[in-house]
Amino acid sequence: MRILITGAAGFIGYSVARRLLARGDIVIGVDCVNDYYDLRLKEARLASLREAGGNRFTFHRQDFADYPGLTRALEGSEFDRIVHLGAQAGVRYSIENPHAYVQANLVGHLNMLELARHRGVEHMVYASSSSVYGGNTKLPFAVEDRVDHPLSLYAATKKADELMSETYAHLYRLPLTGLRFFTVYGPWGRPDMMMWIFTRKIMAGEPIPVFNHGDMWRDFTYIDDIVTGVVSCLDNPPPDDDAEKAGGSLKPHRLYNIGNHKSEHLMKVVEILEAECGRKAVIDFQPMQPGDARQSFADITAISRDLGFAPTTSIDVGVPNFVRWYKEYHGV
Ligand SMILES: NC(=O)c1ccc[n+]([C@@H]2O[C@H](COP(=O)([O-])OP(=O)(O)OC[C@H]3O[C@@H](n4cnc5c(N)ncnc54)[C@H](O)[C@@H]3O)[C@@H](O)[C@H]2O)c1
Repeated sequence: MRILITGAAGFIGYSVARRLLARGDIVIGVDCVNDYYDLRLKEARLASLREAGGNRFTFHRQDFADYPGLTRALEGSEFDRIVHLGAQAGVRYSIENPHAYVQANLVGHLNMLELARHRGVEHMVYASSSSVYGGNTKLPFAVEDRVDHPLSLYAATKKADELMSETYAHLYRLPLTGLRFFTVYGPWGRPDMMMWIFTRKIMAGEPIPVFNHGDMWRDFTYIDDIVTGVVSCLDNPPPDDDAEKAGGSLKPHRLYNIGNHKSEHLMKVVEILEAECGRKAVIDFQPMQPGDARQSFADITAISRDLGFAPTTSIDVGVPNFVRWYKEYHGV
């Protein structure tokens, strides 16, 4: 199959592209390679894709919020399906720079829907986020729950993406699957996320900021499990049969949680990091951050029932894997 992947220089996009190339697919990557975090990491991911894919990997350094630029860049490229993972990610940065989120996540998402419609693709899988659940207190979070009270603009843009997608599934019968990812971590991860920041600071002997005085719970999902979930969604477009889909749509539009189905206390992760880094962490307890949720916990019944999704990597295995990769990548 020929797959267009946006965010191919990003953490999840890169990891999905690797898996698709490994099974023989043709991958067309799109990414503007923005400097939200260290560009060298994004360039290293792209170099790894070029090496793994050879002539089955092509790449377009392109902003998908620029529709004329996007369509021009893709003139002459053929693709059957799209995995749209490019976005402005991060809850906290959306308080600092809201406009970046409107461009990448709203304008950009609409552009990808338009591209998918005009190219008549068989299916587009796109990234939503567990942050759409906001401060919901009913646990675990299920795709049937109401998600009308986002705590950050980031979450609001992701919810808006789901709504825009629903209209495209309705108006144009475009098959779409939205994935609410839960705190993804692992090799080639993101330097702005807790797992990376804590590892770096523990190894440097610097204090780690622990928010809400440590009373934080996250459903940490290992990258390999995420990739397995994304690929099995990609291979199974929702049928246009008027039957109710996961998330409640009667159109060819499904919504799934992809999580590990285990809500872990943050301090447990700190303990595993300490063991793997061979150093005690200096803890700097801080209050809750604006925009943040205290807990996340994924109900994965829908994706397990429809696609047999079953995550296999616990934090006891995944966190040490990440630290080993981190040390190797930095040569320490
Ligand atoms: N990593 C997580 O824990 C997590 C959790 C929930 C949701 N998500 C979502 O999953 C998706 C992938 O996340 P990630 O962790 O790989 O993030 P990432 O930041 O590593 O990757 C996103 C990529 O998109 C690119 N990009 C941003 N704006 C663009 C634009 N306008 N045009 C072209 N490229 C653009 C960036 O350069 C980056 O390489 C995102 O939609 C994110 O919101 C991630």
